[in-house]
Amino acid sequence: MGFDQYHEPAHDLSEETRTKARMLASLTEEVEAINWYEQRISVEKDKEAKAIMQNAQQEEFKHFGMDLEFLLRKKDKWRTTLKEILFKEGDIVELGAKGEEAAE
Ligand SMILES: [Fe+2]
Repeated sequence: MGFDQYHEPAHDLSEETRTKARMLASLTEEVEAINWYEQRISVEKDKEAKAIMQNAQQEEFKHFGMDLEFLLRKKDKWRTTLKEILFKEGDIVELGAKGEEAAE
């Protein structure tokens, strides 16, 4: 990814913002890895290779979760919004609206 996670000159950004930018880039990379493994697993015929890929994908779930939790601890509105959406039953769009209201 190089330095392209910055959309503003890096020297104008605080250390905290640069850390968040790195963690957001990592979050994106974990999602990409989850997607790549999902596709590979779906077409792999060799059982052992498939099991290894499933194990690797599980690691990416963990990495994604840790990256996300780090970011949510730094951004109250994001955390407040997601508290209304994640791990809940019901209409996702309605939960999203509740999350938006909660963060206002
Ligand atoms: Fe990872």
